[in-house]
Amino acid sequence: MKNYTSIHDIDHMESWIGEARELKAHPLKYMDLGRNKILGLLFFNSSLRTRLSTQKAALNLGMNPIVMNVSGDAWGIEFGDGTVMNGNTAEHIKEAAAVVSQYCDIVAVRAFPTLVDKAKDEREEVLNSFVKYASVPVVNMESATGHPLQGFTDAITISEFAKKTKPKVVLSWAPHMKALPHAVANSFTQAMHKMDVDFIITNPEGYNLNPEITRNTPIIHNQDEAFEDADFVYVKNWSSYTEYGKVMHTDPSWMITKEKLKQAKFMHCLPVRRNVIVEDAVLDGDSSIVIAQANNRTYAAQLVLKKLLENIT
Ligand code: CP
Repeated sequence: MKNYTSIHDIDHMESWIGEARELKAHPLKYMDLGRNKILGLLFFNSSLRTRLSTQKAALNLGMNPIVMNVSGDAWGIEFGDGTVMNGNTAEHIKEAAAVVSQYCDIVAVRAFPTLVDKAKDEREEVLNSFVKYASVPVVNMESATGHPLQGFTDAITISEFAKKTKPKVVLSWAPHMKALPHAVANSFTQAMHKMDVDFIITNPEGYNLNPEITRNTPIIHNQDEAFEDADFVYVKNWSSYTEYGKVMHTDPSWMITKEKLKQAKFMHCLPVRRNVIVEDAVLDGDSSIVIAQANNRTYAAQLVLKKLLENIT
């Protein structure tokens, strides 16, 4: 594996989950692998979990992580080819990515979508520019259309908590007042396609995800019906894909409650808005596995870094 940019980079989900769980049991076993190696973490957007868990993953492998908030602290980066740079951008991605590659052995990038320009977001301009112009492996820490470290984490978590060989997993839209990206829902969907689960999606009319991502996944617009006999309910808000980036409605009846959830485990990537996406009783009760899920971010990232290090050493 040269880069980790998408769930499609996971060649065999079951073995990756097994390896990640092995790392979780023995997190410091490969401390020598990353000795004298630098991981650069470049954030164009905010983060709590990704920023801390990916650094911890690097430290567990003996790497030295260095972090930069690109939007606030770096020169404005130009991504356009042939641009006359007489505006606000002071440095071209061609130099920026090449220079970062002089300092880092692996570079990880977070860059959210515009949610305005669908074509630009789907080109993955920032992530793909780093892949193109960096001379070291690139890790996607959430891009315009995917969050594959989160998706892999979610697969690990379901494997840990599953009580059946083929659990029923539901991805449910929930209300939110702001326009949010599709990345987490996309990568979760792609991860579930690589697992032996009974997977369905429930969302209001007008909120279907990109059909190239959902493919033949059943999509049900009745949330109660979708939740019947669910073992895991993975909740996330996303803005409309067809009316790109728009908030079509914020119907509070889609909020997750203890009554709706019944026997199912509650999952969310976090951060989550209490009593908007999900009521307190769920997050504060036994059904929620969001903290265990967040803990697994470290081991998902650690396995990805381990595989990349093994390829460059
Ligand atoms: N789930 C997730 O990626 O969290 P952060 O945005 O805090 O990194």
